[in-house]
Amino acid sequence: MTSKQRVLILGATGQTGKSIFDALVAEPESFEVEALVRPSSAEKPEVKGLSRVVSKVHVIDISGPIDELVRVMTGVDVFISGIDAMSQLAQLQLVRAAKQAGVKRFVPCAFITIAPPGGVMALRDSKEEVYQEIWRQFLPYTIIDVGYWHQISFPTLPSGRVDYASVITPNINIHAGGTAPNMLVDLRDLGRLVARIIKDPRTLNHFVAAYSDVLSENEIYSVMEEVSGEKIVERKHISAEEIITQRAEATAKAKAEPGNWLAQTPLFLGDYNYNKYVRGDNTPAYAKYLGYLDTRELYPDFTPTSFKEFAKELLKGGIERPYGRYRERFEALKGGK
Ligand SMILES: NC(=O)c1ccc[n+]([C@@H]2O[C@H](COP(=O)([O-])OP(=O)(O)OC[C@H]3O[C@@H](n4cnc5c(N)ncnc54)[C@H](OP(=O)(O)O)[C@@H]3O)[C@@H](O)[C@H]2O)c1
Repeated sequence: MTSKQRVLILGATGQTGKSIFDALVAEPESFEVEALVRPSSAEKPEVKGLSRVVSKVHVIDISGPIDELVRVMTGVDVFISGIDAMSQLAQLQLVRAAKQAGVKRFVPCAFITIAPPGGVMALRDSKEEVYQEIWRQFLPYTIIDVGYWHQISFPTLPSGRVDYASVITPNINIHAGGTAPNMLVDLRDLGRLVARIIKDPRTLNHFVAAYSDVLSENEIYSVMEEVSGEKIVERKHISAEEIITQRAEATAKAKAEPGNWLAQTPLFLGDYNYNKYVRGDNTPAYAKYLGYLDTRELYPDFTPTSFKEFAKELLKGGIERPYGRYRERFEALKGGK
């Protein structure tokens, strides 16, 4: 591809969107980046931060008149959504607007573990509604799923040395024996991989699995012990049966309180545990079976950050805690993982 791609990103103040935003603005020869933010966030410092980096930050209500969305999407080559887990269906109108505007590639907010549609993960199923709207519209797309982030995959240590970067402390859970292999990714690589994928004509109208290494929880604990020199003796074992029971309870609660983050998040976590540790879906082999392209095969020259390299940085104090702005919410969830 010779000319620059004009890319509009929704969610550039969030975890996934920020990783993508940072990676694309680092390649000014390839991308002209713009951001779409909601009116209620226009004055936030994070949004002011975006304006310092890119010249166009569009302040738009995505549930408002579609014409406004079509106007900002006109001329856009790639639209990328990093909208939060609870707001997936707000993308339906974005899909229709992108079609009207002639967007050349729509990247909906996938970015979760590999899972089939239909009752395994409620979040995957809400994304499916968006994918089906894309297909009904005959809109060019790429659906990118990723490994579970390194940043939320590590156990805390007895010394407390890595608590600074952990979303939940202590985090010493071992699920269903800890043996299921899972695809992982460094959140900072996620954006770099997206940059590769959206430049690549081979990924148009495909699902793509983007990840670094594949490790079980037991292997992750061993890496942390090796890198830190500490022994993680205390481990909280959660059986497959307990995961299934917790997930069922979380599902009932989430259904009773649809708009409540504190009721929805345990369902997301319960579904992830079921997906990753009970069903064991989140593997390259299953991704391939579902028809995904594999970034390790597409980009053999791209060396992703392994979990071990991440762990070394973590021990040195160089990792940022995800969801810093939601610290209080995660504290309220403590113990429920
Ligand atoms: N693979 C993994 O390990 C993993 C881990 C966590 C999450 N995920 C997945 O990644 C995806 C993205 O989640 P995230 O946690 O990265 O999101 P997040 O940090 O919560 O950020 C959401 C972003 O969407 C923006 N947004 C929300 N509603 C909007 C609206 N109506 N109009 C414009 N912007 C809006 C937010 O902007 P404001 O600044 O206005 O709030 C924010 O920038 C989800 O599907 C999630 O399940 C995957």
